[in-house]
Amino acid sequence: MLEATSGKRCAVLSVAVVGSGPSGVYTAQALLRQSLVPDVRVHVLDRLPTPYGLVRYGVAPDHEKIKSLQNSLRAVLEDDRVTFVGNVGVGGAEGVSPARLAGLYHAVVYCVGASADRPLAVPGESLPGSYSATTFVSWYSAHPDIGADPFALDARSAVVIGVGNVAVDVARILARGADELRGTDVPRAALSALEASRVHDVHIMGRRGPSQARFTTKELRELGALPGARVVVDPAELALDPAYAAPDGLPGALPLPAVVRRNLEVLRGWSAGRAGAGGAGPAAAGPVRRIRLRFFLRPVELLERGGRVAGVRFARTAPDGAGGVRDTGRYEDVEAQLVLRAVGYRGVELPGLPFDPVRGTVPHAAGRVLRGGVASPGEYVAGWIKRGPTGVIGSNRSCAKETVTSLLEDAPALTRRTAADDPLAVLREWGLQPVEWAGWLSIERAEAELGRSLGRGPVKIPDWAGLLAAARDENA
Ligand SMILES: Cc1cc2nc3c(=O)[nH]c(=O)nc-3n(C[C@H](O)[C@H](O)[C@H](O)COP(=O)(O)OP(=O)(O)OC[C@H]3O[C@@H](n4cnc5c(N)ncnc54)[C@H](O)[C@@H]3O)c2cc1C
Ligand SMILES: NC(=O)c1ccc[n+]([C@@H]2O[C@H](COP(=O)([O-])OP(=O)(O)OC[C@H]3O[C@@H](n4cnc5c(N)ncnc54)[C@H](OP(=O)(O)O)[C@@H]3O)[C@@H](O)[C@H]2O)c1
Repeated sequence: MLEATSGKRCAVLSVAVVGSGPSGVYTAQALLRQSLVPDVRVHVLDRLPTPYGLVRYGVAPDHEKIKSLQNSLRAVLEDDRVTFVGNVGVGGAEGVSPARLAGLYHAVVYCVGASADRPLAVPGESLPGSYSATTFVSWYSAHPDIGADPFALDARSAVVIGVGNVAVDVARILARGADELRGTDVPRAALSALEASRVHDVHIMGRRGPSQARFTTKELRELGALPGARVVVDPAELALDPAYAAPDGLPGALPLPAVVRRNLEVLRGWSAGRAGAGGAGPAAAGPVRRIRLRFFLRPVELLERGGRVAGVRFARTAPDGAGGVRDTGRYEDVEAQLVLRAVGYRGVELPGLPFDPVRGTVPHAAGRVLRGGVASPGEYVAGWIKRGPTGVIGSNRSCAKETVTSLLEDAPALTRRTAADDPLAVLREWGLQPVEWAGWLSIERAEAELGRSLGRGPVKIPDWAGLLAAARDENA
């Protein structure tokens, strides 16, 4: 057994965590909380000058309670033993390679998430007016890779493909009145586009049945609580799902998971036209938007008119008895001038790091990166790039702990390797321009100031130039 697990203490352990989203911050936290290696120094690198990953650039702006998780992540990044190193990409052309980074620290933990979208792989997918939900989310979250150019929300009818929580998020943002988002940190261009939005119908489309939908009940219920919107569900479509007809379980089958039972209950209420279906009763003020939840419709083609998307052709499916679906030979076209493909995220290959192209993850054993099937000393992964793009923020905590346990087992051998005394100085020598915590605090102040000038709370800066200018203002 290695010294660390047998209780003997190692010298100072210098660790780089690449990525400051939940998994990166929970990795740093697990390193701070352990007692086997009391002298630990953690640098949390991010290609962005801003911390928190998808908590800042994914969690919907109207989910303020979840957004406030940033406060607990912040406490970790403000610990004396932790240094935030923003604006330093790893593996990209303008960043630092994994091989060079490995020379600066005893260990490197990759927590880079899964930032790409999964393709739908149907004809017409790239037509103007068709976007991945990833792009739409990045836009209303002010991710600087997207920029401030507004989505033209002049569509009357929007189709959202997929029935996961991201689909529900983007549908809710489309259906929610801009007035309700003014109090959030939504960037100016997105708010203006949402104010001018003409979207009236939002169709959320599942290729399988309601019992196989991936959304959670709290998120589903929120659709029904939107002022100015009404949820429409066709009871006949729900009834195609055998689990819907027998929510207490089919003979010989396992009982339905609680989340599925609750989802079915909510859908049943809506299909019966019960309230909760929108804060929008007949008395609701303003235009009433419709959110149609549809099932057993598999997208086969995006339809074009005048060079833009005009609709989506779906194959009508039916349960195959084994949790999947089969095509029935029937089709349905749904009109849409805007299509958002919310069919999941995907990990991106980081040059210099092994990658499993099928799973879109880095191959690992209990968080140890595998090169050619063998654990690579000093290289680890956590979060979505380790497990794939599923799971809520909290799921990353146990995932990070597992990785840190492996790292600590290896610590005695790792601390015998050389590490730079001042990795930041070396990064600067290599031409990188890190944004440290003080720079991030400057960005926060600039966003608060921008919000004040607009009569709002903090408003996000949506572009690289603006973020970097604000970060450099720290000494002004
Ligand atoms: C749209 C959306 C909404 C969500 N909403 C919720 C919610 O409301 N509640 C909830 O519990 N969960 C939510 N989730 C899930 C949650 O966001 C994830 O579980 C979590 O963010 C995954 O953490 P991560 O650290 O692995 O990845 P990320 O959060 O993506 O963090 C990865 C970080 O790595 C950085 N990075 C990437 N590549 C590099 C590189 N080459 N060099 C340096 N840095 C790099 C990125 O800039 C980023 O900061 C949502 C997910 C999505 C997609
Ligand atoms: N509020 C929150 O807590 C919150 C918010 C957002 C995201 N998240 C989490 O983040 C993770 C990612 O969410 P996600 O919504 O991106 O992914 P997801 O939960 O995996 O859902 C993806 C959806 O896309 C469908 N899909 C996949 N390929 C398809 C295709 N070719 N054609 C049609 N439909 C297709 C899937 O259907 P099948 O099931 O048939 O494959 C599924 O309905 C999840 O764990 C989620 O819970 C949480």
